[in-house]
Amino acid sequence: MSQLLLVTGSSGLIGSEVCLFFGRHGFTVHGIDNNQRAVFLGEAGDTRWNQQRLARDLPGFVHHELDIRDRTGVLELVAQLRPAGIVHAAAQPSHDRAAAIPFDDFDTNAVGTLNLLEAARRACPESPFIHLSTNKVYGDAPNSLPLRELATRWDFADPAQARGIAEDFPVDQSLHSLFGASKLAGDIMTQEYGRYFNMPTCVLRGGCLTGPSHSGVALHGFLSYLVKCNLEQREYRVLGFKGKQVRDNIHSEDVARFIYAFFRAPRVAEVYNLGGGRDNSCSILEAFALAEKITGQPMRHTYVDAPRIGDHICYYSDLRKMRAHYPNWTITKSLEQTIAEIVESWHRRLDR
Ligand SMILES: NC(=O)c1ccc[n+]([C@@H]2O[C@H](COP(=O)([O-])OP(=O)(O)OC[C@H]3O[C@@H](n4cnc5c(N)ncnc54)[C@H](O)[C@@H]3O)[C@@H](O)[C@H]2O)c1
Repeated sequence: MSQLLLVTGSSGLIGSEVCLFFGRHGFTVHGIDNNQRAVFLGEAGDTRWNQQRLARDLPGFVHHELDIRDRTGVLELVAQLRPAGIVHAAAQPSHDRAAAIPFDDFDTNAVGTLNLLEAARRACPESPFIHLSTNKVYGDAPNSLPLRELATRWDFADPAQARGIAEDFPVDQSLHSLFGASKLAGDIMTQEYGRYFNMPTCVLRGGCLTGPSHSGVALHGFLSYLVKCNLEQREYRVLGFKGKQVRDNIHSEDVARFIYAFFRAPRVAEVYNLGGGRDNSCSILEAFALAEKITGQPMRHTYVDAPRIGDHICYYSDLRKMRAHYPNWTITKSLEQTIAEIVESWHRRLDR
């Protein structure tokens, strides 16, 4: 009998990739999603197209139109399914949006995560529980590290940071945004269910998670939105730091491959920084150059000398812990290849 995986946020970038990946490995996949991304981020964030893609491309996929804030609904569904694993990728994902919708943000990111953890503890405490957290749990503390300014990017000046930010970086006493704070609550709660109840929980603190299935909008989905602007010749607004702020980007398929590796060999209460690492990092200016090279079209942009509150100036993940614990896992998609896939996907979706 095939094993059953439950994925929240199944119509989103990570959720959908995880559904397809586990489906290809013989799992029966159930997804929870209520297209809340369209409510949080507007029509352009609608993920129904991706839900339809799963229904079409993933045999046996079962969609549950459920809000993870619905505690009774979550407890009942998990009790009924008793999944072999839970991948929790549903979230209010935007740093900036959270300030306007603090209750929705916290109820989704913190309380929704608690609903799922408690449902798992009651129904399937031995099943790996993988939670998608964020590098915003470190607040803006990475900005206090010494930096050096290069022609097109900022970089860490201290050789101690040459491999990026590791998991022991402090998470408190810095500016997080309400999003960073609500995600930190879910992050700590996931660790606590691991340590306190000895459950195989895993926290993945994402850098920029990206790929062809993102419904990128200005407030969330950096490369997806940037490519969409390029293809539609829309103006991209660069906010502060001379456009040299650095993010590390990881293709959703490499994320799914790590989640699968953890599922196969779970550990208790683990935390990993999950990003593209230095090799797949880029500044906004460098991302412009790559997009232009691939599409052959110029980026139209304006510069506003006002950074987003709490935005990282330079951030890339130290991947050494992931590699040490799961030596067969590695990044397989380069930044350029990833952007090329995003371009191709937008071409299809925008019907060009
Ligand atoms: N994409 C990134 O750059 C990035 C970076 C760091 C962390 N993360 C985290 O990774 C996870 C997945 O991100 P993503 O980029 O796939 O996001 P996404 O917005 O593409 O997908 C999230 C999905 O969850 C659904 N959802 C939201 N609230 C819900 C609710 N209350 N009930 C049911 N469904 C709900 C949305 O409709 C959406 O389809 C999130 O936890 C996010 O915070 C993402």
